[in-house]
Amino acid sequence: MADARRLVFGPFAAPAKGVLVLFCEEGIKFGPATRKVLSATGDLVPRAAAADKFTGKSGSMLDIVAPAGLAVSRLVILGTGKAGKLKPHDFVKLGGAAMGRVPSSAGDATIFAELAGGALKPDQVAEVALGTQLRAYVFDRYKTKRKEGEEPPAKTEVTVAVANMASAQKAWAEREAVADGVVMARDLINEPANVLYPVEFARRAQALKKVGVAVEVLDVPAMKKLGMNSLLGVGQGSTHDSRVVIMRWNGGRKSDAPLAFIGKGVCFDTGGISIKPAAGMEDMKGDMAGAACVVGLMHALAARKAKVNAVGAIGLVENMPDGNAQRPGDIVKTMNGQTIEIINTDAEGRLVLADVLHYVNTKHKPRFMIDLATLTGAIIVALGQEYAGMFSNDDRLCDRLTKAGQATMERVWRMPLGPEYDKQIDSKFADMKNTGGRWGGSITAAQLLARFVGKTPWVHLDIAGTALGSPQTDINKSWSSGWGVRLLNQLVEDHYER
Ligand code: BES
Ligand code: MN
Ligand code: ZN
Repeated sequence: MADARRLVFGPFAAPAKGVLVLFCEEGIKFGPATRKVLSATGDLVPRAAAADKFTGKSGSMLDIVAPAGLAVSRLVILGTGKAGKLKPHDFVKLGGAAMGRVPSSAGDATIFAELAGGALKPDQVAEVALGTQLRAYVFDRYKTKRKEGEEPPAKTEVTVAVANMASAQKAWAEREAVADGVVMARDLINEPANVLYPVEFARRAQALKKVGVAVEVLDVPAMKKLGMNSLLGVGQGSTHDSRVVIMRWNGGRKSDAPLAFIGKGVCFDTGGISIKPAAGMEDMKGDMAGAACVVGLMHALAARKAKVNAVGAIGLVENMPDGNAQRPGDIVKTMNGQTIEIINTDAEGRLVLADVLHYVNTKHKPRFMIDLATLTGAIIVALGQEYAGMFSNDDRLCDRLTKAGQATMERVWRMPLGPEYDKQIDSKFADMKNTGGRWGGSITAAQLLARFVGKTPWVHLDIAGTALGSPQTDINKSWSSGWGVRLLNQLVEDHYER
């Protein structure tokens, strides 16, 4: 894993070097172990706090270089606000904020996992640790030079000081699975399309075998045999062959129907013959973020041995224009027999998902299907980058996802579906067409998917806004957020483990 730094747990003790990060509640309130380590600094902290008008408000910080009385190079005090109000995600953010004060050139860091009321509970410690790992993530494997002063010391460690190392380690083992899943998703999304094409993506998904996931790959002949012509039509203009990957984790009862997660994996989306303009097209290497999230989620579930049966399915293609590419006006027959007239070859994600949704639904008879896709630019216009669009035929599943979204801050906002929108994709020549006109573009895209899910409870998450070009936060500085891994892991944790 791209561990930027080794994470360890240790006792509350004054470190001999590096950066020391302490938490401070509003009104300058420290916990007992924190007070003890600060006692060596005399009145340094109250004086610095007064000078900087620092009171411990949430999001505030006091940064003291070379603090007298301590051996560390830097003392960072993070305000937490009132501890009573802190929810699990606030601890993730605190871990991220702490890590944000520790540049990789700083060497070791120690974070005291303590509030005024005393040491954090193991679960809270694990959330802090999760935040440090997500914040520390960098995708720099293609950088051959570093700027001066940015060279990291050979071996650096982040120590989270806790009351009970064994129980912290145990709680972290679960959360680490999720952290690794997010990192895995971010890595896949950041990877350029000359490296990560469908066959290579499928190869990387095989790594999940190591954590006990069964991985099956459908190649082009297998997909032809199944009749996945809608998916294959998208990939036919590329020299890279298409693939579908099915991942299965069976941690539940044998008789339990699996949960199904389906991802759009367009490794590069030029638009095809309906080619996109040049500006910003490089971002379309991330048009497989849905698939990346599904891989990251399957890793998380398996690595933490979730007591659930889950199927992950990803449709991997490259959408390119060439002599063999699909044309506007072409009509394809999908795996379930319905025909689609291609109006715009850039509306390719729905064509990929149509076949994968039908395949998963009929082959695995899942309890529900949730698909993730960077499906439409229109969802970014509608919701910006803070919420993913949620389309569904099932109110209860929507409620659960909305709550999981609030808990993880990977939030979803429900959008409408209905017969009036569905009519917009009726075609003169085929059963349906792949675009529905200028208005409600995210909705008509979802209406096409809805025609392939039967009566199975289903949610479509349009993550075009949340997955790519992500706003900088305490827990992510990368272009790709890995959005969805924590959300769906939370959903499973809250409702589906026996
Ligand atoms: N992959 C794009 C959607 C997208 C846009 C994702 C921006 C991330 C950032 C998708 O395949 C697409 O091109 N959609 C078209 C649909 C249109 C042709 C009906 C769009 O949104 O413009
Ligand atoms: Mn497209
Ligand atoms: Zn696309």
